[in-house]
Amino acid sequence: MKIGIPKEVHESERRVAGTPSETAQLRKLGHQVLLECGAGVAAGFADADYQQAGAVIVPAPGARSLWQQAELICKVRQPQQHPELGLHEASLLTAGKTLLSFFWPAQNPQLLKQIAAQGATVLAMDAVPRISRAQKMDALSSMANVAGYRAVLEAAHHFGRFFTGQITAAGKIAPAKVMVIGAGVAGLSAIGAAVSLGAMVRAFDTRLEVKEQIASLNAEFLELNFAEEGGGHGGYAKPMSAQFIRAEMALFAAQAREVDIIISTALVPGKPAPKLITADMVAAMKPGSVIVDLAAEQGGNCELTEMGALTTQHGVHIIGYTDLPARMAAQSSELYAANLRHLITELTPQKDGNLRLNMHDPVIRATTIIHHGKITWPPPAEPPRSISDADTETKAKPSAETPTPTPSPATAKPIAVARRRGLFTVGGLALGIAAILAMGAVAPPSFMNQFIVFVLACFIGWQVIWKVTAALHTPLMSVTNAISSIIVIGALLQSNSPDWRWLALCALLLASINIAGGFLVTQRMLKMFRK
Ligand code: NAI
Repeated sequence: MKIGIPKEVHESERRVAGTPSETAQLRKLGHQVLLECGAGVAAGFADADYQQAGAVIVPAPGARSLWQQAELICKVRQPQQHPELGLHEASLLTAGKTLLSFFWPAQNPQLLKQIAAQGATVLAMDAVPRISRAQKMDALSSMANVAGYRAVLEAAHHFGRFFTGQITAAGKIAPAKVMVIGAGVAGLSAIGAAVSLGAMVRAFDTRLEVKEQIASLNAEFLELNFAEEGGGHGGYAKPMSAQFIRAEMALFAAQAREVDIIISTALVPGKPAPKLITADMVAAMKPGSVIVDLAAEQGGNCELTEMGALTTQHGVHIIGYTDLPARMAAQSSELYAANLRHLITELTPQKDGNLRLNMHDPVIRATTIIHHGKITWPPPAEPPRSISDADTETKAKPSAETPTPTPSPATAKPIAVARRRGLFTVGGLALGIAAILAMGAVAPPSFMNQFIVFVLACFIGWQVIWKVTAALHTPLMSVTNAISSIIVIGALLQSNSPDWRWLALCALLLASINIAGGFLVTQRMLKMFRK
């Protein structure tokens, strides 16, 4: 497949959707990579490096030719008006072409309709769901990570003092005090960067689950004496009550007098940023202090933030930049290109260079916003939980006071399915018992003993493995190594027996594959945690 990487045309964009190292990876997957001449220069990547990695450079003026030749276009920003071609990039996305880029469909409904009318396909990187399986494709998290880090560097640049405390011949220097509001991806990255520079960091979040993560980064979690949990769906926050917001603002007002730097990242997806830092709080801060408001694009967490600008008010520098990832273009491009490559790998499962969008895959379904000219955004709500899930959550028996609910038409269908399933299970069980009894009538007793143990082991093994959550599959693989070792010992003991030799060899082979696979998976898991 021909993958095209055009030069970004947005005036403040320095990132590029492909890097030399990722080009080499795409080449290994059997794809051809076309790069518009000079596309990576602003991010620090020369055409020659791409060429060395196997890319074909489309000479200037190459934009039109690149869009025409490529079957899959990888971009950072959604299609824009092209200043040199005098047309909108969207008009180059003809039928049969696929675009991978940030798109923000809710903010760009017209663009969505235009591209759909042309029959193209679009996968929006901002629509990748934040679930563990999609982490490697999660470009929003990659960019938030860079933004959090860069926010600390911007703050350090404008603060004009050390972050770390020192004792010098000239006197003692106190460490800078940093407060981070919102400990999501960007917030945690900012905490890590500020701590590593030597600052005293404290952080607040409405989701109590982040308390341990903050502590593990050697920062202090600011607790609020208010019982309301902010954890929402899919690792994101939910809007908080007005009383809670008032209580947290009182905390911030007290902190504002004390801290030197505030980095605020508080956001609930789909909502305007909560206004948490008032003009009075800014006025109460020490002159020379810095506020970096990452939520500037969504209206800002600080009342005085100006979107995209640096201003100084009441002697405090307030940074409202909205392009923090582009200010670290080399790193952001590297991470973004890796996210794209992982997505492309998922889209070409047969490794034959042909795109196959499996719309039953929840990650691909959520990310695809236009499929062959049909708008598929927003994705359908999560499928209803299976009857077995519902069963496990409604284990409490109805008491005398709680009347048994009559099934509504909506719930009647799953109940009928469950009944049918129950009948099948009973039928299967009866058949199994009959088969064992019939076998017992003809087979020798020693065989029957072992056979029944084997059948029970299969049944229990199946039930145990089937109930393990996907997140625990990797540790499970490691545990099965121990079980496989027992099988290996059994097989070795039987390998001399003329009757069981072949069975022992088969068991040895399967157990060895399992052990080798287990080690490989464990190794990969450990690699994820190594620096
Ligand atoms: P996230 O959803 O992972 O984190 C947001 C955090 O804010 C969550 O932990 C949430 O619990 C917390 N929060 C929500 N309401 C709160 C409240 N009232 N008080 C305290 N905490 C609250 O989001 P992520 O990916 O970390 O992004 C954070 C912000 O950074 C977003 O606004 C995003 O748009 C912005 N961003 C800005 C960039 C820039 O260049 N300025 C670049 C990338 C992201």
